[in-house]
Amino acid sequence: MISLDPASLNPTRSYLLQIACIQPRPIALVATCSAAGVVNLAPFSYFTGVASTPPTLCLSISRRQPEKDTYANLLATRELVVHMVDRPMAERMVACSADYPPEVNELATCGFTAVASEVVKPPRVAEAPIAMECRLRQVVEVVEGDHGAHLVLATILRYHVSEAVWNGGRIDSTPLDPIGRLGGQSYCTCRTRFDLPRPPKP
Ligand SMILES: Cc1cc2nc3c(=O)[nH]c(=O)nc-3n(C[C@H](O)[C@H](O)[C@H](O)COP(=O)(O)O)c2cc1C
Repeated sequence: MISLDPASLNPTRSYLLQIACIQPRPIALVATCSAAGVVNLAPFSYFTGVASTPPTLCLSISRRQPEKDTYANLLATRELVVHMVDRPMAERMVACSADYPPEVNELATCGFTAVASEVVKPPRVAEAPIAMECRLRQVVEVVEGDHGAHLVLATILRYHVSEAVWNGGRIDSTPLDPIGRLGGQSYCTCRTRFDLPRPPKP
């Protein structure tokens, strides 16, 4: 085994090692609005579910000066729409990760279509197979010196599921075709699938 002490790595090496260790990661494509109403869209792969009751997800936004638009918008307006990303969305999702100034609407600029949300102000992306309208619940600060991240916990207020992936009252992962982020600049699809029943209760 190769053993590595993260304390011996600079922040870039530490980042590259961690994203290569923890893979695949689901990708949240997150829509927010600024206080002035400008729509922002950006991908985050430090993302997962936290609780189903209350329905809660989390994503981690790295600290920066000035802060990323998504984080600044969340502090200002406390609402977000989190989308799952499928293969046809991948190139446009990556385009949204460019460092656009806050006045740019990345949803439109990167070629997505906005649909009004039901209960939050940020619109949802029409092309996404799944969209979750959310409200900011809590931010946990993970800080060391100049580095760290804002761990954002959000309550899911609405799930929107495309009819193409809704099969008999359940989400079918074959048409969903979600992509994941691997290490470096690599991504994966989930096109090879196997089912394993859980062990019976003793
Ligand atoms: C697939 C992918 C996943 C990303 N995941 C994260 C992440 O988990 N946390 C983060 O801070 N930045 C992440 N980024 C970088 C942000 O998307 C990028 O900094 C973006 O410009 C932030 O946009 P904003 O300033 O509009 O919020 C990711 C980028 C890509 C392409």
